[in-house]
Amino acid sequence: MQPKYLYINTIGCQMNVYDSEKIAVVLQPLGYELTRNVDTADLIIVNTCSIRAKAEQKAFSFLGRMAKLKRKRPKVIIGMGGCVAQQEGRKIMERMPFVDLVFGTHVIGRLPEMVTRIEQKKCHLVDVKMYPGIDEFDFTDTAGAYGGVCRFVTIMQGCDNYCTYCVVPYVRGRETSRKPEFILSEIRELIDGGVREVTLLGQNVNSYGQKEGLCSFPGLLEKVNALEGLERMRFTTSHPKDLSEDLMLAFRDLDKLCRHIHLPVQSGANTVLKRMNRKYTREVYLGKIEKLRQVCPDIAITSDFIAGFPGETETEFSETLDLIKTVEYDSLFAFVYSDRPNAPAVHFGDKISETEKKARLQVLLDLQEQLTLKKNRSMVGSIQAVLVEGLSRKQPGHSESDIQSIIQWSGRTEGNKIVNFDWADDRETAAPEIEAGHLVDVRIKRALSHSLWGELVRTKTATADLKGGKYYAA
Ligand code: 5AD
Ligand code: SF4
Repeated sequence: MQPKYLYINTIGCQMNVYDSEKIAVVLQPLGYELTRNVDTADLIIVNTCSIRAKAEQKAFSFLGRMAKLKRKRPKVIIGMGGCVAQQEGRKIMERMPFVDLVFGTHVIGRLPEMVTRIEQKKCHLVDVKMYPGIDEFDFTDTAGAYGGVCRFVTIMQGCDNYCTYCVVPYVRGRETSRKPEFILSEIRELIDGGVREVTLLGQNVNSYGQKEGLCSFPGLLEKVNALEGLERMRFTTSHPKDLSEDLMLAFRDLDKLCRHIHLPVQSGANTVLKRMNRKYTREVYLGKIEKLRQVCPDIAITSDFIAGFPGETETEFSETLDLIKTVEYDSLFAFVYSDRPNAPAVHFGDKISETEKKARLQVLLDLQEQLTLKKNRSMVGSIQAVLVEGLSRKQPGHSESDIQSIIQWSGRTEGNKIVNFDWADDRETAAPEIEAGHLVDVRIKRALSHSLWGELVRTKTATADLKGGKYYAA
């Protein structure tokens, strides 16, 4: 079979990264090989995100560029998948007639059949049906195809929470969990292919398996923890209302579970949380953070915030800033509120102006930048277990000539902080052999606002044996 080339542009969250891997896997039997060069691709797919207006615009501007390419090479097949495709369906082809294929979030398994029909009949196809359950795929080859040390594994899809600003329940459908045996065998394959860290993905992992009567989420973590060859596991995202004590205890008891939790709060004001339909109060949230820190004192905590939700007053916004100061997050993601199709908040009054939303976002980010730097500085001198992901890019503070002689690696701490490190140059022994996938100990020498800089202490981590000892003074 003559090779054909598939180019995938993935926009949005980790779940889309995972779905793009699925797309490549299901199209392999048709002879499609992945390419990074859009100009030589036979099939171009944009896997879209609709969480905020900006992500949606990104998808359409990419397709706009593809229109030119299609004029030059009319045989190329252009497809759009993911959340915007689910949301807009057939309208996409009315707006952009050069698009050959529109497929939603539940039909990746049907792609081979659809692409074959387009190849043979030169037709246009749309499929945005939502099916119950989750298609299972044979992932045997993905580890090899994608490589890497850290990979995502979707354990559930959809969401039943209906936060008033959010499009996810409308574009990803009802919450559905995958069976543990499929998840475990997929992770097994990944480990055999060299993967050392997995991040389990779901919109609200805390409710994993509840509807289907499968094992609990902490139960699933226990099973993954037992897989030989895996060094680390993470998960995202946790809804604060469902964060159970059992899950908190998992941070204490499961040696492979990285001591980091992403716990999106969105706002620090009870009135806003109510309008968002978040189903918890500031006090309940802070209570959970306190308990988490009792169980696991050095846990890294990150969050998501929305600035300028409809009707957000200055006082409500200042409660958010106050919450950020109280929790002292390791880092956070923050976004200006944007209206999304079908989300109830579209109809809420008292919309905040774009200028004001952006100004609030900036205040919030500036505050967090100081806090992150403070946290990062507090780690200087400590020894961190770092999972090596590869060689790092050039570091500030080293001249070009230094760079030639210094081997630098890059990896992440348990708290998910990026660490670039080298082998101390005052040592007489040669730099040790380090490869992606090794878990090593690094002494932190310098804190930057978005990363840490350190030097290798030993090639086998000692910190891994210290329960709760994510880092200690050297
Ligand atoms: N506007 C701005 N941010 C949003 N998010 C979700 N929906 C919106 C919206 N309409 C943010 C939330 C969520 C993160 C994934 O995206 O903070 O946690
Ligand atoms: Fe959206 Fe809320 Fe579900 Fe998260 S929990 S995906 S914010 S509806």
